[in-house]
Amino acid sequence: MSDELAQIAARMVAPGKGLLAADESTGTIEKRFKKLGIECTEESRRDYREMLFTAPELEKYISGVILYDETIRQRASDGKPIPELLAERGIIPGIKVDKGLVDLPFFPGERFTQGLDGLAGRLDEYRRMGARLAKWRGVIAIGEGIPTSQCLRANAESLARYAGLCQVHGLVPIVEPEVLMDGAHDIKTCRWATEAALHEVFDALTRYRVGFKDMILKPNMVLSGADCPRQAPPEEVAEMTLACLRRTVPVAVTGIAFLSGGQSDTVASANLNAINVKAQALKTPWTLTFSFSRALQASPMAIWRGQAENKTAAQQALIRRARFNGAAALGQYDPEMEQAA
Ligand code: 13P
Repeated sequence: MSDELAQIAARMVAPGKGLLAADESTGTIEKRFKKLGIECTEESRRDYREMLFTAPELEKYISGVILYDETIRQRASDGKPIPELLAERGIIPGIKVDKGLVDLPFFPGERFTQGLDGLAGRLDEYRRMGARLAKWRGVIAIGEGIPTSQCLRANAESLARYAGLCQVHGLVPIVEPEVLMDGAHDIKTCRWATEAALHEVFDALTRYRVGFKDMILKPNMVLSGADCPRQAPPEEVAEMTLACLRRTVPVAVTGIAFLSGGQSDTVASANLNAINVKAQALKTPWTLTFSFSRALQASPMAIWRGQAENKTAAQQALIRRARFNGAAALGQYDPEMEQAA
């Protein structure tokens, strides 16, 4: 099993490619649709995702797609199951397997992720449906006195137990400890919290005997808080992010695919590019790419608006962002490309 998983992990982070996170829960996509006046029904969610997954040449830039439970069970309008549609294009079907966040009792402002109960059985079912990669997101908030060591540890333990189960059941785990960018904190605070989170995560992964070459890490970039008056430029984001990763992530990890976390699509591309430029200079051992939801989907969703006649333009917008992020994953993105394209 391990050889197969290592090959899938390597395909996920093939040069110039990254992942499309399309695993928004029904509640989350409803909020995003609502802002744009898009009706949110099972059918409209299917139509939207089908629009994304059938974009011409998507497989040139996207190695895998993370689906939500509803979507992996849906069929495209021609009757083909969605995971089959992706696999036929050479795109690895994936599935979000956590069951969302709940408050951590006695730790105001902190949360942990549910979903370990019954997970083994669900992984077997998803694998039968064609999924070969999975995602679990732990969330770490920054604030007065937080993150606490209890929150960091609780999230790391769950991520490690999830990752081990995935590897035994034939799926590559995407291990996602997300330090949120919400708040007015500076980039140094984010660096501290991210380093502490990754340190706990790799400690837990080691103790639970998770295979590093059979997993992908999905971290946040190290950024200034969203409300911080000083927003660190891409070179500083790159320096801080790589310093943090170099102190915490084993060389054996196959690849790192960043989440976008609420950055605008152009800022996310510029930061990913700066990280890769710096990584090349430092000769870091891992491929560093993207696993974006909002930074890939914001523009296609705004163009689509639930109207079939906007499909082609929306698909072009998705491919444009996928292409730019593919270039950024190679350190070959230039903001000038935004104007030229
Ligand atoms: P964003 O890129 O919008 O942060 O989403 C990535 C993701 O998968 C969050 O779990």
